[in-house]
Amino acid sequence: MGNTIKVAIDGPSGAGKSTIAKAASAALGFVYVDTGALYRTVALNAIRKGADTKNAQQVIATLEGLEVNLGFEDGAQHVYLNGEDVSDKIRTPEISMGASAASAIPEVRKFLFNLQREIADSNNCIMDGRDIGTVVLPDAKVKIFLTAAPEIRAERRYKELLEKGTETTFEEVLADVKQRDYNDSHREIAPLKATEESIIVDTSDLDLEQSIEAIITAIKENIA
Ligand code: DC
Repeated sequence: MGNTIKVAIDGPSGAGKSTIAKAASAALGFVYVDTGALYRTVALNAIRKGADTKNAQQVIATLEGLEVNLGFEDGAQHVYLNGEDVSDKIRTPEISMGASAASAIPEVRKFLFNLQREIADSNNCIMDGRDIGTVVLPDAKVKIFLTAAPEIRAERRYKELLEKGTETTFEEVLADVKQRDYNDSHREIAPLKATEESIIVDTSDLDLEQSIEAIITAIKENIA
């Protein structure tokens, strides 16, 4: 317990955290843990049960009997809602917004806390999220805060959604990005923020390869 190497990567949505953390984990032989998927799964479950994700009481009621688990197959993370693999179903704009709302509820954060700790205590891992360096893994060996300008993040997300055939406009995506930034960094509990020891990496002017390289270098230098 606790002897594993823990790397925390926090940052706003669309900074490229998951793609970059995934590639860096593969290069370093670490398990990659995307904690946003956990909040998304809680939101999916709440929405399926007819709860309004902004209504704390309604969301809390849906936690009763809920089981969220992570599995790793060929290095890829899968997330399970009561045994059902929902890894793809949680990637919609509706669930993004729902997860942002549900993640502001303290009971939801508490519900997911132990699962995140247990995974990090049993595997060398790179864990990405919003409060990993501040709350979940304050003992992380390396803390990275990965960010990029909102317009750049919206552009990247817009392209992803278009590729998936989701109908949307750039303006809509940008408004979503800004709204989620605001929600995530202004909530009372575990707001998105860098720690004093965080290494800040801004990917606005970096391409994917350069971003991955920057992260791998930062991790290697700090776990040496
Ligand atoms: O990283 P993501 O877009 O998949 O995250 C979905 C939402 O979950 C995001 O709006 C903020 C929330 N979240 C959080 O509050 N804490 C985390 N560790 C990860 C995600």
